[in-house]
Amino acid sequence: MLFNDIYKDKVCLVTGHTGFKGSWLAHWLNRMGAQVIGYSLKSQSTPNHFELLQSDYTSIIGDIRDLNHLEKVFNKYKPNIVFHLAAQALVRYSYDAPLETIQTNIIGTSNILELSRKCKSVEVVINVTSDKCYENKEISRGYNESDRMGGHDPYSSSKGCSELITSSYQNSFYKTLNKSLASARAGNVIGGGDWASDRIIPDLVKSASTKEVTYIRNPIATRPWQHVLEPLSGYLTLGWRLYEKYDYNEGWNFGPYADDNLSVKEIVNRASKFWERINFKIEKKDTHYHEANLLMLDCSKANNLLKWKPVWGINQALDKTINWYKDYYEYDKINTNKDLDQFIADAKRKFLIWTK
Ligand SMILES: NC(=O)c1ccc[n+]([C@@H]2O[C@H](COP(=O)([O-])OP(=O)(O)OC[C@H]3O[C@@H](n4cnc5c(N)ncnc54)[C@H](O)[C@@H]3O)[C@@H](O)[C@H]2O)c1
Repeated sequence: MLFNDIYKDKVCLVTGHTGFKGSWLAHWLNRMGAQVIGYSLKSQSTPNHFELLQSDYTSIIGDIRDLNHLEKVFNKYKPNIVFHLAAQALVRYSYDAPLETIQTNIIGTSNILELSRKCKSVEVVINVTSDKCYENKEISRGYNESDRMGGHDPYSSSKGCSELITSSYQNSFYKTLNKSLASARAGNVIGGGDWASDRIIPDLVKSASTKEVTYIRNPIATRPWQHVLEPLSGYLTLGWRLYEKYDYNEGWNFGPYADDNLSVKEIVNRASKFWERINFKIEKKDTHYHEANLLMLDCSKANNLLKWKPVWGINQALDKTINWYKDYYEYDKINTNKDLDQFIADAKRKFLIWTK
């Protein structure tokens, strides 16, 4: 039994199911017997993890900025639990498309919160934001949930705004309606099936598949890296507790232990040990894009209150991730279910709370 079996038979709306994290989450929920409704724009990459999985849940192609269409979906399917992951999720692209980023991440998120407020069946909403929601001060301690919101680039500030709107909806509406609403702030995630642009692991494996070199633009940037299943286990733990009416209607960090806050250079070095085809060159270029150098998360609140803990360290996460792509490119194999089974088995061995 996982997460006290609360997801079984629940109608779970997952926005962003054609994206990296959403495709894993919708698949996991589906496997646990939830009635999954995915709502997203069409998959934006070829290949695409959502399409490769061929899961048998309801997939709706739509835009979260389209309030009328979204309203029809809420009225038709009457979700019980909403996991909101749809977003313009790329920092660099947000410089090219600031309005699209703001409209999607702020207005689109507000549409989800507004419809979840009006829709009687909705009991729990989790808004997935980012570690980049914090005002970055380049400090060597992890940000905790009471640090200030901020954001230098349009993506980061849109996530800071999304947090403020979540807290306003909680205080103004959800509290009195007895609905639960929380936000989740995870760091950089890796895992099979991500083909987004301008992300280090997808860049490395795409080049490896065609035997090309990847140029590393910001080797010293330090981030909290984790396998995608780690924050997803955090979102599912939070959703379970909120469903049981724990008063956890606030922001939550999900990230690795301190040792796994590593530089990009360290990550690519370690990744290259798992596939001989990975070939990279450090080429530090000055670009007009600002990117934070130091970004870490303090996850003691989730560790202590939710009793949520990571399952794999970074080496195991890299092993699973790089081998996922290696098996895909070299043998046409999709290891998603195998990785998920192994993750659950390892979590059980560690007696993690969500496996009891
Ligand atoms: N990948 C990471 O390392 C990371 C780190 C921290 C936070 N996050 C957050 O997690 C969430 C999921 O990220 P991801 O890595 O899966 O991103 P992704 O880019 O792989 O997927 C984004 C999803 O959102 C959908 N989408 C985008 N605009 C939309 C719109 N207007 N209407 C409907 N759907 C739309 C896309 O179709 C896709 O399904 C995002 O909120 C992101 O900001 C990701």
